[in-house]
Amino acid sequence: MEPGPYAIVILGASGDLAKRKLIPALLRLCEDGLLEPSTVIIGSGRNAISEEIFRAMFDVSVQFASRLFYHQGISGLKTYIANKGNFSKVIVFFALPPQVYSERAAELAKDGFGPETSIIIEKPFGADYTSSVELNRRLTEHFEESSIFRIDHYLAKEAVQNILVFRFANPLFFPVWDNHYIESIQINASETQGVVNRGSYFDSAGILRDMVQNHLMQLLCLTTMEPPLSLESEDIVARKIELLRCVSIEECHRFQYEGYRGEKDVDAHSTTETFAELKLGINNFRWAGVPIYMRCGKALERNGTEIAVRFKPFPGGLFEKQGPISRNTIIFMIQPNAGIIVSIVGKEIGREINLVNTNMRFCYDEHRLGEKAREIPEAYQKLLLDAVLGNHTLFVTAHETELSWKVIGDFLDKGEVATYPFGKDPPTRLGVEWIDFENYYSSCS
Ligand code: BG6
Repeated sequence: MEPGPYAIVILGASGDLAKRKLIPALLRLCEDGLLEPSTVIIGSGRNAISEEIFRAMFDVSVQFASRLFYHQGISGLKTYIANKGNFSKVIVFFALPPQVYSERAAELAKDGFGPETSIIIEKPFGADYTSSVELNRRLTEHFEESSIFRIDHYLAKEAVQNILVFRFANPLFFPVWDNHYIESIQINASETQGVVNRGSYFDSAGILRDMVQNHLMQLLCLTTMEPPLSLESEDIVARKIELLRCVSIEECHRFQYEGYRGEKDVDAHSTTETFAELKLGINNFRWAGVPIYMRCGKALERNGTEIAVRFKPFPGGLFEKQGPISRNTIIFMIQPNAGIIVSIVGKEIGREINLVNTNMRFCYDEHRLGEKAREIPEAYQKLLLDAVLGNHTLFVTAHETELSWKVIGDFLDKGEVATYPFGKDPPTRLGVEWIDFENYYSSCS
């Protein structure tokens, strides 16, 4: 079914995000016939740019370029759109610095944008609990909560969406998904790059605000929440909220890579963390007593995002003589390759009973489900289409972001910051035996 026609507005349209992500995603949606032909895309920004120059900024077909328009500023935008046609909905993407979100929302309201308008914003949603509550209050002064789409692009990753399917479409794993059987959970997000050209933003944020409060908390929710009553977004959000209310951080260690203070736009005395290692607990019937370890940062040894669910060993020592048995582990590989590995123990071929560790694997590259030939859609394609269709499943609500800030609040900007060499993972402060995730990728590439 084709949606529309819609007017899709990009505030901050001459910026990097529009060029790198938004316009290419919209182009792809149009090529796939997912946006009704009379849908228009209107860029808006502070500069006076002619339509020709605006269209020439993007590497798109002539046909797609003819759908692109430009309007300077917000004042008069509503009338400008009305003159372009009759649209059932206006979707405004804020490709803007977060500090101006509430101001621009007020300007849109002043220009006459009302309930027919949806707004899409990207993290950070505030810098702590208090500022996020304030931001949400100011946005909802002008727009309904149901018209606000807060992006957490991790939710649009195929392998992240697959966590719920794996957990709730496979009865095999459901009965053992609790503190009787699971020993610990590890969530890892490593990047080899430093802050590159984002020093100014990152130095005011740090990895706890940049990644842990949002992306990693969402991964934790999907891995540990109760089954939702349905796949409707409000049912999924309800489960995440229940979960977040039980989460607490027990330990948090902060680190900064050597050379960070010399990065462009970074304070020469900065104590912002570029890596953090945390231990969390979930105080509910299902998870009490199961440690959750998180590790996340920049300038590390490898690129990779993974979740490992590690099972307790069997009681009794049936195979004790055969040596130590490695524990069953389920690994959700989010990126660079996506897949799920279940590590198990088997019998080595031969007359003796000797044990061998092996992996059962599901790799996206081999088993692209459904339309095999099609690429996995880029996150922004899904997000933009869902926002256009009014589907909130891949977006986070005000309540979720606020609760997540509450969980992390006491640990922001607190404690000593140890250093580590660029490109080298800091040694664990939690005494965790971190899984060698790289090892598992070799069986899924
Ligand atoms: C962003 C963070 O939200 O996610 C970045 O601001 C981080 O610092 C990025 O690099 C990671 O996203 P991905 O999709 O590459 O894992």
